[in-house]
Order: sequence, then C-alpha cells, then structure tokens
Amino acid sequence: MTQFLVGKRVLLGVTGSIAAYKSPEIIRRLREAGAEVRVAMTENAKRFITPLTLQAVSGNPLHEALFDARAEAAMGHIELARWADAVLIAPATADFMARLAHGLADDLLTTLCLATQAPVALAPAMNQGMWKHLLTQENLRALQQKQVCIIGPGNGSQACGDVGPGRMAEPEIILEQLSAVFATAALAGLKVLVTAGPTHEAIDPVRFLTNGSSGKMGYALAEAAREAGAAVTLISGPVSLPKPGHMDCMSVTTAQEMYDAVMRKIPDCDIFLSVAAVGDYRCKKVHEQKIHKNQDAMTLELVRNPDIVASVGQLSPRPFIVGFAAETEHVIEQAQAKRERKGMDMIVANQVGRGAGMGADENEVTVIGKSRIHLPSMPKGPLARQLIMMIAKEYHNQ
Ligand code: PMT
Repeated sequence: MTQFLVGKRVLLGVTGSIAAYKSPEIIRRLREAGAEVRVAMTENAKRFITPLTLQAVSGNPLHEALFDARAEAAMGHIELARWADAVLIAPATADFMARLAHGLADDLLTTLCLATQAPVALAPAMNQGMWKHLLTQENLRALQQKQVCIIGPGNGSQACGDVGPGRMAEPEIILEQLSAVFATAALAGLKVLVTAGPTHEAIDPVRFLTNGSSGKMGYALAEAAREAGAAVTLISGPVSLPKPGHMDCMSVTTAQEMYDAVMRKIPDCDIFLSVAAVGDYRCKKVHEQKIHKNQDAMTLELVRNPDIVASVGQLSPRPFIVGFAAETEHVIEQAQAKRERKGMDMIVANQVGRGAGMGADENEVTVIGKSRIHLPSMPKGPLARQLIMMIAKEYHNQ
C-alpha cells in the first residue's frame, strides 16, 4: 500500500553502496505512486551510479554538493530541506548512519537530514559483519530514539559473497514503509468534514464574484486527516486541483450550495474543518443575459450569504469546530473575535495579501485553541499534518 505517497515530495539521498544500483528503481516506483522526487547523492555514491542516471529518472536537477553556488542559486539546501515531505536515504551506508547518529552535518545529505522538519527514513545497506557490529547497532538505536524510521535491512546473500543481514530492503518494501510513515492513528475511527476553496456568486451567465483561494490548504488538511485515520468528506468550491482519492468528495459552486451540502453531512461528523473562503455576499439579482457595458458606472446590490460555520456552531449536538481566519491586519484579534462570535473550538489565523497564504504554496499561521501556537511559514502539506496533530490533541482533551 503506497496510497499516502500520492502528491508527496520525496527527497531521496543516495550514499556509496553497491545497492545504489536499485535507486533508479526506487525513484521510478515513487513517481508511479504519485510522488515528486528530488535526488541528493554523496561523492562516494558516484562510484556506483552516475548523477546523470538519477537526474534522468527523477526528472529533476540533481543535488550533489553543499557548497555549489549554481545549485544554491536554483534551490538552496535549506529550501530543499523545507521542500521535502519526507527524506529517504536509500541506500544508507554504515558510515552515513554513524555520521547522522552523531549529528554531523559536513556534507549535503547530513545537512539536509538535520535541517528538515520532515520525517527521515533510512534503508541501510552494508556487509553483514558491519551491520552486526556493536557500534553500528548503537548508532541504529540512537537513530531510532530520534524517530528516524529504519527500513530493513533484509537478510540473504550479499554482493561480497557473505550471507546474513545487511542487504538493502527491496524497493517495494521501502515504498510501503515510507508510505506508512505518513499514517498516524490520531483521528482513527472519526468522521471529518472539510470545506475548501472559494465560492462563485454569479453576476450574469459569464461573470461571478469570488476570491483567490486555491483550495490547497483545505485539500492538504483533508489528506492529512485521512492519513491520521479519519473517514473524510471534502466539500469543495471550484478549484483546479485533482480530486483526492480515498475520501468522499463533493463539488459545489455557491455559498448556498456549500451551506446545503454541509448541513446534509454535519449530523454524521465528529470534526468540522471550515477552511473554505466562502463568499459573504451574493448578487440580489442574477442577470439572465450577459450585462453589456452601456453605462459609465454600475451598482450591484448584494445580499448576505448564510454563515456556514456559525450555523454549525448553533447546532446541538454539534461537532468539534475548527475555523480559519484570513486577515490582512490585526490578524490575531480578528481571529479571536471570530472564534467567539461563530462558536468555534479552535481557529487558525493566517495573514493573507501580498502573495501570502491565499493561493500560495506556503502558509504561516497562529492556532488559537486552549493555547496559542505560532507555526512559521512552511509548505501547506507539512503544515496540514502539524495542524491535524494539534486538532486531534484538543479534540481528545475536550
Ligand atoms: O485555498 P488556499 O489558497 O490554500 O488558501 C487557504 C485560505 C487562506 C483560504 C485558508 O487558510 C483560510 O484562511 N480560509 C478561511 C478564509 C476566510 O474566508 O476566512 P473568513 O474570515 O471570511 O471566515 C472565517 C470562517 O468562517 C472560516 O472558517 C470560513 O470558512 C467560515 N465562513 C465564512 C463565511 C461564510 N459565509 N461561511 C463560513 O462558514
């Protein structure tokens, strides 16, 4: 099962082992599973496989050195560490394990492993004697204690003629276990309803009122909730994102349609994540024919749309409610006031405007629940996973 790899950004590190000949196969399978792959390799890895091969199979420029001005100009190592949803080192030599276990950061790969916030997985590959050595086993335990996921190694005949543990795990096992890294049980057995994207409020048959929401934040939260074991329903306004798999997806256009869809689903939900940027107003009169510009100025009369999250907040019983607040000024104060006014358990405040938050790939938020926590700017995938863990904690501690 590699379902959690869909849409994930995987940074594959390749170190100097004969098992590096399997790295192209790992890349091919990762891409088939729907992941985007970037590769970083050590100098010693180049003795076993060419940079060109890995670059060609991954479809992305290769990352080789820590102090490479050209590579840093395109995507610096810190940016690369932040880009990744997961870092997979396959094969990982005994030397690499030792250096990582001791926190060294003297080359690109070890630096990436220390700099990233993403989960790190290692698929060790080495001679059976090296694997069994006390020092390697101590390093293994140190890495496991630091939440590094160790995949394999397998047991069997080795390139050097020995037989025993130390062969790199087969690519399909590596993919399955990497996929499992994303699965948590934080919301196991719960039903989560997510709204995402903008709404369109028609003016005439060819024009509408809308906003810049892309749906990325809501879709990332729906995916993270599914990874956390929830049964997810996603109600989405018009976006250009592919429909996520393994969840119930409904498409709506207007705020009224989103309201109707939410009210149908809400009795059967434990947690409601109101991420959609819902149009607050619609046109009082929708013109049946296209409006022609025969006046210098025109006025549109608008009427209020129903407030979906506030309506859910008044239900009894009601689900655990998490709202979002997109603000351009006084972000925390506005969000706090909305939380109280709309009866939310938690609110996630994001500063929008000037390319931030709305429509962007990254977001920086402050979560206001029982406590207030600021999360720095990061891609919406990892941010969604952190938010889901925080939401799960507050839900279970109600
Ligand atoms: O989609 P992206 O490009 O990834 O951008 C994500 C986002 C910036 C849209 C998202 O993170 C976000 O902040 N969503 C809420 C945006 C918003 O419209 O906030 P608001 O302050 O207008 O509404 C506050 C809350 O009430 C929200 O939970 C909203 O879903 C809800 N609401 C608002 C109006 C309405 N009629 N019904 C509602 O349920």
